[in-house]
Amino acid sequence: MTANDYMQREDRYGAHNYHPLPVVLEKGEGVFVWDVDGKKYFDFLSAYSAVNQGHCHPKIINAMTQQAKTLTLTSRAFYNNVLGEFEEYVTKYFGYDKVLPMNTGAEADETAIKLCRKWAYTKKGIAENQAKIIVCEGNFHGRTTTIVSFSTDPTAKDGFGPFTPGFVTIPYNDLSALEKALEDPNVAGFLVEPIQGEAGVYVPDEGYLKKASEMCKAKNVLFIADEVQTGIARTGKMLACDHEGVHPDILILGKAISGGAMPVSAVLADDDIMLCIKPGEHGSTFGGNPVAAKVAIAALEVIKDEKLTENAERLGKIFREEMKKIQSDRVEVVRGKGLLNAIVIKPLEGKTAWDVCLALRDNGLLAKPTHDHIIRFAPPLVITEEQLMEAVEIIKKTILDMDK
Ligand SMILES: Cc1ncc(COP(=O)(O)O)c(C=O)c1O
Repeated sequence: MTANDYMQREDRYGAHNYHPLPVVLEKGEGVFVWDVDGKKYFDFLSAYSAVNQGHCHPKIINAMTQQAKTLTLTSRAFYNNVLGEFEEYVTKYFGYDKVLPMNTGAEADETAIKLCRKWAYTKKGIAENQAKIIVCEGNFHGRTTTIVSFSTDPTAKDGFGPFTPGFVTIPYNDLSALEKALEDPNVAGFLVEPIQGEAGVYVPDEGYLKKASEMCKAKNVLFIADEVQTGIARTGKMLACDHEGVHPDILILGKAISGGAMPVSAVLADDDIMLCIKPGEHGSTFGGNPVAAKVAIAALEVIKDEKLTENAERLGKIFREEMKKIQSDRVEVVRGKGLLNAIVIKPLEGKTAWDVCLALRDNGLLAKPTHDHIIRFAPPLVITEEQLMEAVEIIKKTILDMDK
């Protein structure tokens, strides 16, 4: 089969809910992926920051296959000998009393919302069905009906109503809007991405998260950080909240907690909050399954063993400096933190960010536009300085060639 055959088959039998870049991949290792014709590419998307530890990391794959041969799923109807090991490991790793394991990022966000509401009624004393959660314009927390209910992106939301009530939307990175919204005594939580990834890598002002968390504390409102994309070393700290010394009341993790090997997500909180949910009130057949548990431990160990946080911090600075050197009217803005970066592309001569990504592909580097005019660059964190500089040269050459 040719690349075209593969694409046509997906198009023929799969729902059209994505618009993939035309490239058909069949293999991955570290920072590289290969297409069905054997062409090698730098992966500068990392499956939306799920593959922070690099493709098919041997330690993670080994943990996965060993456990898969032994016991894959018990459901939570019974105990197993692995889940507790993960629970102990991950709670100590991030400094919380308890963890609630799920599978996808959206499920973890849903879990955090339910947990916050339960806490509102059982601890804060908000009247039944009156709890509100503050969210931000431009947010992305997943695709479920409740989550799209408070999306401000028409593509994600339009045509999927009726919507779940109980959310108050304020502008991102706006402390006075937060202060005003917090005056409502029925507010139970503030759900925020420390950097808005899907929106186009919007980094808030320094001090925003710290101040926001203090304001929430003063009003007995839970500060809920969605670190599904920004967590697990991506931004140059283990969590993006660590840049400001913020310890969220509820922490949401996904994606790279499994190194991209399988869907694993988790919600962390202390007993006072987590124990508001009682047996039978929430769960998932696959959440915390033995394979996921082993994979997540290995994936988190790799981050520490290989010092990926430090690597992301150091190489991220170099990457942004190099991008800022590009002498092209096409490059409007360079922004990001650690190895979560974006450049804003000005459309010139009818060529958009999509065309830049096609040209990058032809030159051996894969990236994807978000919101038409922004290209996110997020390589696996195992990338070396030498590899990064090679990738930088590809990006520079591609953009400058388009100007010719
Ligand atoms: C911040 C954030 N939260 C939640 C999600 C949803 O994760 P999933 O696609 O695993 O449901 C994403 C996905 O991109 C995300 O970036």
